[in-house]
Amino acid sequence: MFFDLVFIFVILFLLFLLSMVWPPDSPWAPWWRTDKPTAEAICKLAGIGKKDIIYDLGCGDAEVLICAAKLGATGVGIEIDPLRYWVARLRILSSNLDKKINIKRKNFFDEDISKASVIIVYLVPKTLEKLLPKFRKELKKGTKIVSFRYEIDLNLKKKDPGKKLYLYTI
Ligand SMILES: C[S@@+](CC[C@H](N)C(=O)[O-])C[C@H]1O[C@@H](n2cnc3c(N)ncnc32)[C@H](O)[C@@H]1O
Repeated sequence: MFFDLVFIFVILFLLFLLSMVWPPDSPWAPWWRTDKPTAEAICKLAGIGKKDIIYDLGCGDAEVLICAAKLGATGVGIEIDPLRYWVARLRILSSNLDKKINIKRKNFFDEDISKASVIIVYLVPKTLEKLLPKFRKELKKGTKIVSFRYEIDLNLKKKDPGKKLYLYTI
């Protein structure tokens, strides 16, 4: 019994170590997240205010949505990973922001994103490339897109090189 537990613990520990090097958009890579100062820089770069509707595609634990909601915006987070979905929901509930933010456990490729005034993404280039036709088809003219870390093949409006943030508009 003791050795079984040790074996399970070792396997879990190895999975934990592996998860750190898996790609950032994998549901098994929990360590790729936006920290609070970067979330604040994203909100500042996009000029987020009360009238904004923010869609965070692959919202993780909802750090950016929470920051935007504190500035008065409403938010929709779409997250495929059940664990992160629940972490996001619990964080939103404990911040009393459940009336401002809706989290959906869905694949963002299947969701209508046309209501967004600002899109937030922290995803690998391959996924960003796949999202481009969806952006072009569904987003209204003037919708802002902020990408953390990776650039998108759209016209760049502004950037924060220190934080690796890129702002585009459709
Ligand atoms: C790099 S993490 C970023 C998390 C969060 N946006 C942040 O900045 O802290 C990417 C997230 O996208 C989610 N994700 C990847 N592909 C997805 C998909 N097709 N639909 C919904 N979520 C997805 C992953 O589960 C992961 O939580």
